[in-house]
Amino acid sequence: MTKRALITGITGQDGSYLAEFLLSKGYEVHGMVRRSSGSNTQRIDHILQPDSHLESIPLTLYYGDLTTLEQITGLIYDIRPDEIYNLGAQSDVRASFDMPEYTAEVTGLGAVRILEAIRRSGVAARFYQASSSEMFGGAPPPQNENSPFLPHSPYACAKVYAYHMTCNYRDGYGLYASNGILFNHESPRRGPNFVTRKITRAIVNIMSKSQDLLYLGNLDACRDWGFTPEYVETMWLMLQQDSPDDFVIGTGESHSVRKFLECAFDYAGLDWEEYVRFDPRYVRPVEVNALLADSSKAREILGWSPKIGLEELVMIMIDADMSAAGLDPPGHGYEALRSAFGSQSFAYRTSVPVDNRGQAVGSE
Ligand code: NAP
Ligand code: GDD
Repeated sequence: MTKRALITGITGQDGSYLAEFLLSKGYEVHGMVRRSSGSNTQRIDHILQPDSHLESIPLTLYYGDLTTLEQITGLIYDIRPDEIYNLGAQSDVRASFDMPEYTAEVTGLGAVRILEAIRRSGVAARFYQASSSEMFGGAPPPQNENSPFLPHSPYACAKVYAYHMTCNYRDGYGLYASNGILFNHESPRRGPNFVTRKITRAIVNIMSKSQDLLYLGNLDACRDWGFTPEYVETMWLMLQQDSPDDFVIGTGESHSVRKFLECAFDYAGLDWEEYVRFDPRYVRPVEVNALLADSSKAREILGWSPKIGLEELVMIMIDADMSAAGLDPPGHGYEALRSAFGSQSFAYRTSVPVDNRGQAVGSE
């Protein structure tokens, strides 16, 4: 029987890769999309508008918003999904300091609205909550499932709330509900305000002479950066286990923002110190200094281990941004993808990553 999945946040970085991954597994995929005055489906347009010779794609989109129950309940009743992936969120940590109430509404209460809709409907859907390493905040690295949550931002506080409510519905009502505590993961589809993509895009703009300088905040913070297509697979794996559980997902390597800068500018043959300037606007009222995942549990139980490290990640992102800007990329990122994942013709059928023009990276 074909499985049905409902994804909130399908237009985001993770949602787009997860949709491709689930389609490649033969799922019927349903996605909730916010109404927007412009287009917010760029990351999934290549799935919606495939080449004409392909059969129709089992992907359906619906308007909906995590701030209100009305569509969520209706979607769960109508679709009766086997699996629900709650990836929708106000996910920008810096912005959460400017919009704490809205962040709590979407990122915190949004999860509860779905849990409550599952409980009330009696639909036996398995639930995945996109929890975050940001919840560890001030907890010393490395962090695993037993580390304390010491949230340092309104975003992290909202995620901690959603995390505990997920556990609460699991323990109290017997729902199959799991938390994936994912560390930072990046890709050519990463939003342009997050530091990695801000850097790779700036490098390409500098090369094409449309930008002179790059303004950044704290360069000392350390993050455990992985490659998103590898992370969405873990979301699915978590919901295939016999019983629900919580898992930490990360590479087990942590690097500073400064190190990412060095790597990225080096790959482009540029000296970062010539181009980077400090701007206090990007400094947060409270910072998370060091995140480093101990994913032993996921490695053992899910059998998962990542293939892409920091250097490959940087090359993949810069190659994709250069290609998108019409520049000839060095190509080591494409090579890294080919050697890690092989080449495939149609990205949505496989879990192979596609670049930000929707082309299967690694296909000729
Ligand atoms: P993202 O690119 O910012 O995507 C967020 C998604 O949520 C978008 O589809 C967005 O829609 C949607 N959304 C925002 N507000 C909404 C609302 N009120 N109602 C319905 N949908 C709404 O984030 P991401 O990087 O894919 O991350 C996916 C999830 O994992 C998020 O919950 C994030 O907090 C969490 N997470 C991410 C990371 C990471 O490193 N990427 C790590 C740990 C946890 P629009 O496209 O219309 O804006
Ligand atoms: N965004 C941004 N912009 N960050 C900067 C800048 C800048 O100009 N300059 C320095 N940084 C530093 C931030 O202070 C932070 O320490 C680090 O770069 C990473 O920032 P982001 O890329 O914005 O990611 P994040 O770690 O705050 O949050 C991301 O990862 C979380 C998982 O740990 C988001 O994807 C969250 O949604 C996710 O939960």
